[in-house]
Amino acid sequence: MLTKAVDFYAPEVLEDPYPLYARLRVETPVFFDPEWDLTFFARHRDVVGILKDRRFGRDVRHALGPDEVDREVYERIYPSRYPTWTRYIRDSFIDLEPPRHTRIRRLVQWAFTRRASESYRPRMETTAERAIRVAVERGHMEAVAEYATPIPLTMIAELLGIPPADQPQLLAWSHAIVRLFDREVTDEEGRAAERATIEFVEYVRELLAERRRRPGDDLVSAMIAAEHEGDVLSEDELVSTCILTLNAGHEATVHAITNGLLALARHPDAYRWLREDPEGRAASAADELLRFDAPLQMFERWVLEDLDWDGVALRRGTKVGLLFGSANHDEAVFGRPEELNLARNPNPYVSFGAGIHYCVGAPLAKVELEVAYRTFARYVTSFHAEPDPADRVKSLVFRGLRRLPLVFD
Ligand code: HEM
Repeated sequence: MLTKAVDFYAPEVLEDPYPLYARLRVETPVFFDPEWDLTFFARHRDVVGILKDRRFGRDVRHALGPDEVDREVYERIYPSRYPTWTRYIRDSFIDLEPPRHTRIRRLVQWAFTRRASESYRPRMETTAERAIRVAVERGHMEAVAEYATPIPLTMIAELLGIPPADQPQLLAWSHAIVRLFDREVTDEEGRAAERATIEFVEYVRELLAERRRRPGDDLVSAMIAAEHEGDVLSEDELVSTCILTLNAGHEATVHAITNGLLALARHPDAYRWLREDPEGRAASAADELLRFDAPLQMFERWVLEDLDWDGVALRRGTKVGLLFGSANHDEAVFGRPEELNLARNPNPYVSFGAGIHYCVGAPLAKVELEVAYRTFARYVTSFHAEPDPADRVKSLVFRGLRRLPLVFD
């Protein structure tokens, strides 16, 4: 297999990674990067194939002994220095494999159905409308803080039944916790992530006790009540699933809305098409915008057994990196992939993953995005964006901006 070092953090790649991905798909669709210690896959068929193949997993502990994994890597993923973080964040069901994953997912899944998700629509619409009206009056907005953040935040707070006054605190904990997923985390950030987890766990325990006393119309109450063939979620499973919902559901959606608005600003023809019928076209626009510039660009999997992947030998206990952003632009699957075509159909993008970990919040996220674009298009005739490249999030996993100033024409 080819060894290759790719500078994913080069300024021009952070700004626009798609030309690099296009080259990789042609020249080296599979390569090992020693810097990342990952075998990267750039093609749609490999990314989806690996996500669906049980010889790869998000967790490794059920399949490999601790001595079969590089100690340094193991310690980075399951840091013993931060036991609360490891117990509640690493042991949430996104990081489990069957049978533990299957059990928990089955119990929480029904709370995330399309019907349950639709019930949040009116509250999201109110939030979006309030934000856009103020901004249109003023003639400009900073879209991350004023639009992309409040819509998912309102939705998740509603979902978990959290009072508005507590929301900023939850967001601060969530930001501190996710820092430990980053390779470039400092010791100070690690300690802050552990502290944030301890406080968050305490908060969720109190929330659970309150909902047990007085069940409401929210996900926490629904998860407490969830039962399948006599099985229920344990207290620890409830706590970690609540925290996971907040972490998984928030940042990706903020980046999705931000990236979507930026793409619309840069493609006035597409925006005009959306504006002709926001009610009817926002859902398909939301799908295409998720494909065009996905908020989550790379996911990893452990190789759980020695295997041959289409002529490439993969060793048990190593990791692969799946380039979602590249898969979404694969010309073998999408006609004219670099074109933003809001009516694209079919649109088999991988932004929500595939296989057993396919985003359980996808129905909800789709309603949020649809509401965000539809409301925006109803109020804003035309607009342009003035992003500062320095505001790009420096990450191979998350793709987004810290700030996105928009000016309405
Ligand atoms: C545009 C927004 C979103 C994107 C792009 C997104 C993307 C993803 C992806 C790619 C995965 C699979 C990860 C993997 O295979 O390793 C995933 C899983 C998950 N997502 Fe989302 N997500 C979004 C919004 C949400 C929301 C709103 C929620 C909940 C409120 C949520 C909750 C989850 C959970 C709980 C999982 C784990 C599922 C499992 O392991 O079975 N996500 N998401």
